[in-house]
Amino acid sequence: MSDPAVKLKGLTKTYGEGALAFEALKGIDLEVARGEFLMLVGPSGSGKTTLLSILGCVLAPTRGEGFLFSEPLHGRKERELPELRLSYIGFIFQGHNLLPALTAEQNVAFPLELRGYSHRAALAEAREVLGAVGLEDKLTSHPDALSGGQRQRVSVARAIAGRPPLILADEPTASLDAQTGAQVTTLLKDLSTERGHTVIVVTHDSRIFHLADRTVHIEDGRLVPPPVKE
Ligand SMILES: Nc1ncnc2c1ncn2[C@@H]1O[C@H](COP(=O)(O)OP(=O)(O)O)[C@@H](O)[C@H]1O
Ligand SMILES: [Mg+2]
Repeated sequence: MSDPAVKLKGLTKTYGEGALAFEALKGIDLEVARGEFLMLVGPSGSGKTTLLSILGCVLAPTRGEGFLFSEPLHGRKERELPELRLSYIGFIFQGHNLLPALTAEQNVAFPLELRGYSHRAALAEAREVLGAVGLEDKLTSHPDALSGGQRQRVSVARAIAGRPPLILADEPTASLDAQTGAQVTTLLKDLSTERGHTVIVVTHDSRIFHLADRTVHIEDGRLVPPPVKE
């Protein structure tokens, strides 16, 4: 039995100090199996981005324990986080977050070079994953020459490039129409299954819930049972 992709025990996150302290996560217990496609759902301000930021090694937790593929997240110095992030995480943002001055293939290749790929190897991998998302004819297009759905497909390609084991997506369909949002999410799901990524998607978008292996609800910094349907 291999360890889960994610294991959290009593995880908390407090922003600020003293009278201004705000506890955004109030004790999260969560396990995510390897290969699972999980959706994290909750109202605005409930702590979704905070939780994703801790899993993505952008923020350190305040208390409790967290493990990514058995690597502890707690008790780390802030300066150790970027290295963990580069080894384990692919991130898809709400806005596509592509660099406008770079072409599609450069946008995908650039983070690979940060991970130690040679320029040539990074470009080869970028072209392969852009092919996998159906953009083989847009390799040298800049983001402003692409549709919203195409830009979000470049973001998917960038996240899966180099095969990071955990893909985190923060409201990836928020700027897309319903049909395009469902297409991009289906593509992400199919590629993850094929390539063995674990995926956590934060979303408000009830039209993509059915694609999840499991849906987890968060309210006011705590995981809660799903709301009862009317
Ligand atoms: N850097 C910060 N400093 C202080 N409070 C913050 C910070 N970031 C988020 N918060 C607060 O933490 C709570 C959870 O925020 P967030 O994780 O962004 O929620 P969500 O993504 O579910 O909308 C909110 O009340 C928000 O105002
Ligand atoms: Mg958010």
